[in-house]
Amino acid sequence: MLRVAVCVSGGGTNLQAIIDAIKNGKIQNTQIVRVISNNKNAYALKRAEAAGIEGVCVSPRDFDNRELFNNALLKSLKEADPDLIVLAGFMVAVPACVIDAFRGRIINIHPALIPAFCGKGYYGLHVHEKVLSRGAKVTGATVHFVDEDLDHGPILLQKAVDVKEGDTPEVLQRRVMEEAEWILLPRAISLIAQGRVMIDENGLTHIKEDE
Ligand code: GAR
Repeated sequence: MLRVAVCVSGGGTNLQAIIDAIKNGKIQNTQIVRVISNNKNAYALKRAEAAGIEGVCVSPRDFDNRELFNNALLKSLKEADPDLIVLAGFMVAVPACVIDAFRGRIINIHPALIPAFCGKGYYGLHVHEKVLSRGAKVTGATVHFVDEDLDHGPILLQKAVDVKEGDTPEVLQRRVMEEAEWILLPRAISLIAQGRVMIDENGLTHIKEDE
């Protein structure tokens, strides 16, 4: 059984996609053991509760400095004892101590085709605003492993989504979620649960054929 901890900050539609995929068998042999939010008002926590999953808030606001918050986040993750940490709309830079403790076992969903439209300032709706203001005709989503650099680790899955005439950031965000994110993230977890993902010495991922 793959033990998964999911880190969230907001609406939690990606969390919901994972919950649903476990329920309907698209992801097998997997259990969400804890949902951690940096925001106590995140709707994602309500989704966790509705699914009978433990949800906790670890907020920087509750600590005097960043190091204390980082340690608390690490402690909460260690308590959950996950095999895999999924960043599903987690708007916090993952501290080095967490990356160190769970190296190669953290994945993130990013709402664009990395290495385009990623890095500092590229999160949530801002990504789609920047795609539109640059006039890109194609965008998409990426699931990647997390390393010390923002939006940088080994790419696991990507899916392209068309930008359409008249799109607003909100309309494009919704299309990227529906056509890419909610499909890719459950698929990535399923592949990992099946032991089909390898990262080679060059930091490239390889997916083994289904047997
Ligand atoms: C998603 O679009 C996710 O890709 C993005 O935030 C949204 C969260 O939505 N993540 C990032 O921008 C991370 N850099 P959700 O809470 O409904 O899943």
